[in-house]
Amino acid sequence: MTAEQIARYIVAEAVWAPSVHNTQPWRFVTGREPGRQYAGQHPGEQDSQQISLHADPDRRLAAADPEGRELMISCGAALFNVRLALRSLGYVPQTSVLPDPGQPTLVARVSWRERAPIDEFERRLFSQVRKRRTHRGAFDPEPLPSDLLAALRSGAARDGAALRIVADDGRRAALATAVETAEHQLRQDGERLRELARWTPAPGSACCDGVPATSYPARAEHTEPDFPGRDFARGHGWGMPPLSSAASIRAAGVAGLLTTAADRPPDWVSAGQALQRILLTASASGAAVALHSQPIELPWLREFIRTQLSDGAYPHLVLRIGMVTQAAVSVRRDPRDVLFAPGGDHAVLGRG
Ligand SMILES: Cc1cc2nc3c(=O)[nH]c(=O)nc-3n(C[C@H](O)[C@H](O)[C@H](O)COP(=O)(O)O)c2cc1C
Repeated sequence: MTAEQIARYIVAEAVWAPSVHNTQPWRFVTGREPGRQYAGQHPGEQDSQQISLHADPDRRLAAADPEGRELMISCGAALFNVRLALRSLGYVPQTSVLPDPGQPTLVARVSWRERAPIDEFERRLFSQVRKRRTHRGAFDPEPLPSDLLAALRSGAARDGAALRIVADDGRRAALATAVETAEHQLRQDGERLRELARWTPAPGSACCDGVPATSYPARAEHTEPDFPGRDFARGHGWGMPPLSSAASIRAAGVAGLLTTAADRPPDWVSAGQALQRILLTASASGAAVALHSQPIELPWLREFIRTQLSDGAYPHLVLRIGMVTQAAVSVRRDPRDVLFAPGGDHAVLGRG
């Protein structure tokens, strides 16, 4: 494969990362930018054996995410896919995160030169990149595979974050109340509702971003304790019908918090990489994950969670992990629309 073919292959996988409201706030630049010196460049290394991942600030949620934290988490998840896609080709990715303070949108540079065969675990994770979906609703009462939580916790630590399981009944109920309180408050906030409307296309829309009606249930599934989902349908009655009409016991799943020790942009990128590793690891074991960022978007509730439920570590997402048959379908932009040549403002690679 040529370096350009590799770049196209990587980006076609990277775009399947999760992102807040499916904003897909990223763009990729293949090769080296002309006239720029790169630390660690090996003699003889092809100029093109590199891809840069940029955040796309036009896709930041101005009301929900003024600091760009969720934007960076989303880009971190895409970065994990970039690395995994390179591994699937037998390359060893060399990653530098936020390498240039002069370019605040530059999230990471990844280059590849050395080779090592992909291992079985990486292969299993890679096989889930396109299959994995965010779950919205309740879970089956079936227990998680043994050892899954330990694998998720150690995986998060490898990427510089932590997955904290909130097992105690009282703390779990407090976390659910935080989600419920946040969801209630967000539904009263006109600016946030207008922003949500921008990212929730009507059924049948040709949009290839935002949260489609094929990815959430038409009727909210309640659990005990209840972790209400976002109101993507906004009263329109959109969403998927229930898979079965049989009333069964439905569970909230194992609740957890994704946290980092500090709260700066590199920590947000770490949280995103850890998130995608968690989601793919769970998916490879037949488990699904529901994500709730509602309370994290409200500073006072985020502070409550940090001080009361996560030992002072900075929370980034509430997660619920459980077993369920997934039926959600999501959408993505064409990878060719997010891959650019060096210095190209709208030079799209691979068209025609
Ligand atoms: C930082 C972040 C925050 C998210 N917050 C929520 C949330 O509060 N509720 C939800 O249902 N999904 C949430 N998601 C999941 C996205 O909506 C989802 O990734 C996107 O719609 C694409 O769908 P997919 O994950 O099924 O591919 C979040 C994802 C990220 C990366």
